[in-house]
Amino acid sequence: MLKLLLHPSQIITVDTKGKNVKRGKELSDISVLTDHSLVIENDLIKDFIPNSSAQQIKVDQIINAEDKIILPGLVECHTHTAFAGSRADEFRQRLSGTHYEEIARAGGGINTTVTAVRKSSFDELISIISPEIEYFISQGITTLEIKSGYGLDFENEIKLLEIIKYINTLFPIDIIPTFLGAHTFPGEFKNDRKGYINLIIEKMLPHISKNNLATFCDGFCEKTAFSSEEIDLIFSKARENNLELKLHTDQFNSIGGIDVALKYKATSVDHLEVLNENEISKISDSNTVAVLLPGVSFFLDYGYAPARNLIDNNAIVALATDYNPGSSHIANLNFIMSLAALKMDMTIEETISAVTINSAKALNLSNDRGSIEIGKKADLSVFKTNDFSDIIYSVGKNLNQLTIKNGNVIYYSQGGK
Ligand code: NIG
Ligand code: FE
Repeated sequence: MLKLLLHPSQIITVDTKGKNVKRGKELSDISVLTDHSLVIENDLIKDFIPNSSAQQIKVDQIINAEDKIILPGLVECHTHTAFAGSRADEFRQRLSGTHYEEIARAGGGINTTVTAVRKSSFDELISIISPEIEYFISQGITTLEIKSGYGLDFENEIKLLEIIKYINTLFPIDIIPTFLGAHTFPGEFKNDRKGYINLIIEKMLPHISKNNLATFCDGFCEKTAFSSEEIDLIFSKARENNLELKLHTDQFNSIGGIDVALKYKATSVDHLEVLNENEISKISDSNTVAVLLPGVSFFLDYGYAPARNLIDNNAIVALATDYNPGSSHIANLNFIMSLAALKMDMTIEETISAVTINSAKALNLSNDRGSIEIGKKADLSVFKTNDFSDIIYSVGKNLNQLTIKNGNVIYYSQGGK
């Protein structure tokens, strides 16, 4: 089955010359191709052909891409979409001056959502999560990571991972499951940290690995959550169980998370709002992706991660929403791109690399997606504009008109919502 995306204004290929990643200066090079049409064969990118000869080739379907630009399908590499309940009350408390961490220390925060998730059935959670997946797809997202982390006991962590697995069968995009049992200590283990860690390493990890319920094991290294020694122990067991690694770290305090993550060659370190110079150079010298979450800085109203410094030091930088009920109740990746440009001094080109090839790299998937290169998956997002800058300039507005996954149109709208 041959399909032709005919006469787009621009094809933003994010070409990596086969490297499948962009670090440092490379993030600015997104390869803007004009006067070309794009050929898809079945589920793969087949060819770029000059517009002058495009009409001559015989195809099964033509998709008119006039006045539109084609980007790689966006990759959202860090979300907590599997949750129930609302934290609007805590949002109100924060607006009147209570700090996010104070709420957590008082037993609220993540544990408020844990209570709501434990009360929700499998089916209830599916009906809460499904519209969110549709919203991600409408934005041009073709690969989406979702973490557990709001169950925090065996039954409910497994329930969340089973839900993520089931959701993956309901939607045409790829949903990548991450186990985040080490999100915080649940109420019943408040005074028994060892007991909870044993539950993670002796019961949860082996079951998850045996039943293929997660690709990654994640954790939260923070004063209100897990120490770097505790993360070290969990990561060593996760590795024994063949899971890849990610770590929430340096969000409020730098307590050794970066060293542990790099020691285990984690795929990504995420947050990084309070990173110090020494850590910036260690990350920049590694192959670990720095996943920045400016929605959190915006939503909690504090400092942004040092994106400029990381990129200038040659790091691999990606961006994500961190969509969750407490620290970033923002599921709009377009808004995150604008925040990155406006608040973290990233260029428009860099933000595009950060939500395509580098976010694919943050899921270990950049070998087959994240850029429009011959032989890669035909995962595409098609925006209704003639200039890619408009995507970031149109803050919070969805200019995506077509989402294409594995060569099939899975979403269509007039664009401009
Ligand atoms: O990535 N930092 C830890 N976890 C989430 C927030 C979770 C919550 O507040 O519910 C985050 O910011
Ligand atoms: Fe997160």
